[in-house]
Amino acid sequence: MKVLVVGSGGREHALIWKLSQSPEVQAIYCAPGNGGISELAEPVEIGPEDLEALAEFAETKDVDLTIVGPEGPLAKGIVDVFEKRGLRIFGPGKAAARLESSKAFAKTLMKKYHVPTGQFAVFDDAQAARAYVRQVGAPIVVKADGLCGGKGTIVASTLSEALGAIDLLMEDHIFKQAGERIVVEERLQGEEASIIVLTDGTTAVPLLTSQDHKRLLDHDKGPNTGGMGAYAPAPVVTDALAKQIMTQVIHPTLKGLANEGILFRGVLYAGLMMTPEGPKVLEYNVRFGDPELQAILPLLKSDLVSLLDDTVEGRLSADHCEWQEGSCVCVVLASQGYPGEYQIGKEIKGLDKLKGREGVAVFHGGTKRDRNRFVTWGGRVLNVVATDVDIESAVKKVYRAIDDISYEGMVYRKDIAWRAMKKPITR
Ligand code: AMP
Ligand code: GLY
Repeated sequence: MKVLVVGSGGREHALIWKLSQSPEVQAIYCAPGNGGISELAEPVEIGPEDLEALAEFAETKDVDLTIVGPEGPLAKGIVDVFEKRGLRIFGPGKAAARLESSKAFAKTLMKKYHVPTGQFAVFDDAQAARAYVRQVGAPIVVKADGLCGGKGTIVASTLSEALGAIDLLMEDHIFKQAGERIVVEERLQGEEASIIVLTDGTTAVPLLTSQDHKRLLDHDKGPNTGGMGAYAPAPVVTDALAKQIMTQVIHPTLKGLANEGILFRGVLYAGLMMTPEGPKVLEYNVRFGDPELQAILPLLKSDLVSLLDDTVEGRLSADHCEWQEGSCVCVVLASQGYPGEYQIGKEIKGLDKLKGREGVAVFHGGTKRDRNRFVTWGGRVLNVVATDVDIESAVKKVYRAIDDISYEGMVYRKDIAWRAMKKPITR
C-alpha cells in the first residue's frame, strides 16, 4: 500500500513511525513533512491546504490511502475533493468537520441532541454579547466560532477581561472572519481529558484515554500553547466514566450528525471537563490530538493502516484495536520564547544516543535536516516519548532520555503527568 500523510508536526511523525512498522505499507509520502519525518517518508513539497495539488499528487503516484493530520485541510473540504476524484482518504468531509470549524455549530448540535456541555449563547453582534456577559457575570469563557489555531478561546476571570475579549474578536478582528461570530460559555471546573475514537459513522472504537498539558509552565501556569506534553491512559477516566462518555457523548453526537444527514468517518475527539456533575464537552476536534497521539500510538499493538483502512471502508469493529499494558508519556521540547517569538536554526545534539533505546522514541515537531544534523525549525521542536510498565517508570524514563538532548534555548515542562502520579514530581 502507498500512503500519503498530510501535515508536518509531531502527530504526523508518530503516525508515520507507526505506519512504517506495517507489513502492508510499501511507500510513505508526507506533505510537507519535517526533518525527522524525512527519515521515514518521502517529503512532498505541497502545502497541507493546497487541496487540488495534493489530490493531483495522490492520483499521479497511485496513492492507496491519504491520512490527514491537521484540521485546516479537513475544514476546507480535502475529503470531498479527494472523494470526488475517487481517491481514498481518511477523515471527515467538510460538513462533518464543522464540529471543529464552527463552535456555534458544535454547541447547537450538543444542545439539540442532549450531549452534556456548559450553558452557552451565540452572538454575531458585539453589543448583544456585552449585554449578555454583563448580565451573567464572570468567570466566563469567550470563544471565536471559527478555527484560530487553538488561540481563539479566552477563559475570563473578570468581567473586564471578558469584555476585552469580545472587543479583540469582534471589534479589532484579531482572528478576522473566525471571530465575527462568538460563543459565550459557562466556565466549567474539573480535570480535563481527551477521548479520541475512530468511527466509520456507526461503530466507534475508542483509543486509549489521554491528557494534554496546554499551559507553558509547570503547575499549569503561563500562557496556553499547542500542548507541552501528554500521557496515556488517563486514570481520571475510569472504566465506568469511559463507558458513560461513549453512551452520553460519542454515540449521541454521531447519531445527531446522522440525523442531520451528515456522515462522520475518521477521528472524533471530545475534549472533556470531568465536572462534579459528570463529563461535559469543552470542544470537539475532528482529527487526532497533538501531542496526545504521540503518547497513544506507542501503546497500540494493532496494525494502524488496517484500522484506518477499515474506518474508510465502513467495517470497523471493536476487536480490531489491541493495546499494550503500561503507560506512555510524551514531553514536548520547545524553543525559548514559544508560544511568542523564538529563534530557529539551533543545532540539536544527542539524538543519536537515543536511537534504539528500548521504550523510547523521538517524534519531531519543528525540525529541519541540515546535511547530517538536525536544527530547530519551530516552536514545538521535539516530542520525547517513553513507554513503561506504569506511569512513574515512564516519567522517569522520559526525563532520563531528555537529559541526553540539548540545543540552545531548549525549554520543557518538568511535571508532565503529575495528575496521574497524584504526587508532585521533584527533579
Ligand atoms: P477550546 O478552544 O474550546 O479547545 O478550549 C481550549 C482550552 O480552554 C480547553 O482545553 C480548556 O482548558 C479551556 N476551556 C475551554 N472551554 C472552557 C470552559 N467552558 N470552561 C473552562 N475552561 C474551558
Ligand atoms: N491537544 C489538543 C489538540 O490537539 O487540539
